[in-house]
Amino acid sequence: MGASVISDLFDRDLFAAGPPHDAFRHFRDERPVALFPEPDGPGFWSVFRYDDVVDVSRHPQRFASAPAVFIQDPPDPTVTQELLINQDPPRHTKLRKLVNRGFTPRQISALEPHVRDIVVRLLDDATAMGTFDLVHDLAVELPLQVIAELVGVPAADRHKVFSWTERMMSNDDDDRVAMQADAQVAIGEMFGYADQLIASRVGGDGTDLLSVLLRADVDGEELTPLELDVFFMLLMNAGSETTRNLITGGTLALFEHPEQRARLAADPELLTPAIEEMLRWVTPVMHFRRTAQEDCEVGGQAIAAGDKVVMWYSSANRDEVQFPDADTFDIGRTPNDHVAFGAGGPHFCLGASLARLEARILFEELLERMPSLTQVGDPVRLRSNFINGIKSLPVRV
Ligand code: HEM
Repeated sequence: MGASVISDLFDRDLFAAGPPHDAFRHFRDERPVALFPEPDGPGFWSVFRYDDVVDVSRHPQRFASAPAVFIQDPPDPTVTQELLINQDPPRHTKLRKLVNRGFTPRQISALEPHVRDIVVRLLDDATAMGTFDLVHDLAVELPLQVIAELVGVPAADRHKVFSWTERMMSNDDDDRVAMQADAQVAIGEMFGYADQLIASRVGGDGTDLLSVLLRADVDGEELTPLELDVFFMLLMNAGSETTRNLITGGTLALFEHPEQRARLAADPELLTPAIEEMLRWVTPVMHFRRTAQEDCEVGGQAIAAGDKVVMWYSSANRDEVQFPDADTFDIGRTPNDHVAFGAGGPHFCLGASLARLEARILFEELLERMPSLTQVGDPVRLRSNFINGIKSLPVRV
């Protein structure tokens, strides 16, 4: 499809082979802030250039996260308005402080030995299989096991919880109505489960995040049952659906750039910048939305109060003005101020240190234990305009 004829960012075919980078380049050059239609809604401004994405992200008073950071307004805002990610100060600041405690750099680095144990076990199992699915057998399992333990989900239940997150997040089906209905059912089932888990912790002194949230005090008040359910949902979704695509997309980038893979194998010190480059290259979360609070301007384009403004992180991360040779995968790239975890501001990814830790340990062990890992089939991609995801990638040890 020619770049200039792209007029519908809800067309899933556009994302079938990965993000439409040619189209994004065209828009950065020709129409850096452009209006697009949405099904059953007023349409949205798309912001494609790096500097403009940063501008929107760092001015939360002008560009609010409420009512929602997904492009389409939810059919029923009761649940979505409670999500941390959809809130603005002062409520956002207070709620964020509560969960922040579980995600300080010190707390995250203390997880290293445990994360390494999980990785080694998964790699041992994969080695025994010989040929395995990088997504199903490895990339899904690592972040899921880590976040489930942090939040306090028993091991036996984690796949059940994961299947709910998939049904909410995948956004992969052409039948939008059926997809939304199924997501609602999944939310209801997940909340029912979270209620049981919470009930089992009342009065306890557990250190898992759910127990900590249960004892939390916001201005003298406890979190309501709905607020607790919604926190549970956000942590499980954000913690497992994103990192897995960094791991799979990053591995695929190494397969597709054998010279970069050889460079990394020869100099493992490059792993830290390599993971930053994988984040930029893959950009697992392709966009988030804000809503203009006043008449204003972005990149010279007038925006009216109430307009939806969508920051395309996938495009910003390939902006040649910010990244020389932006379409080159260069594991030694420095500086690399990508916006894969958001472009700054109060909502910057809470789990960034955790995601980086998981990826670093996984690739350290993978490069060491599976030096000749080979791709043995085509990746199956998620057809989504939101998550840059891979559903399966067959490999051989
Ligand atoms: C490679 C992996 C990940 C990517 C690419 C990613 C990306 C993002 C992005 C783009 C945002 C929005 C930032 C903004 O609006 O400024 C975000 C927010 C968030 N992320 Fe992540 N994320 C990842 C992993 C994780 C993990 C492992 C967790 C674990 C709990 C997590 C939890 C969250 C939460 C709770 C928020 C909302 C924060 C708020 O609203 O204050 N993320 N993430």
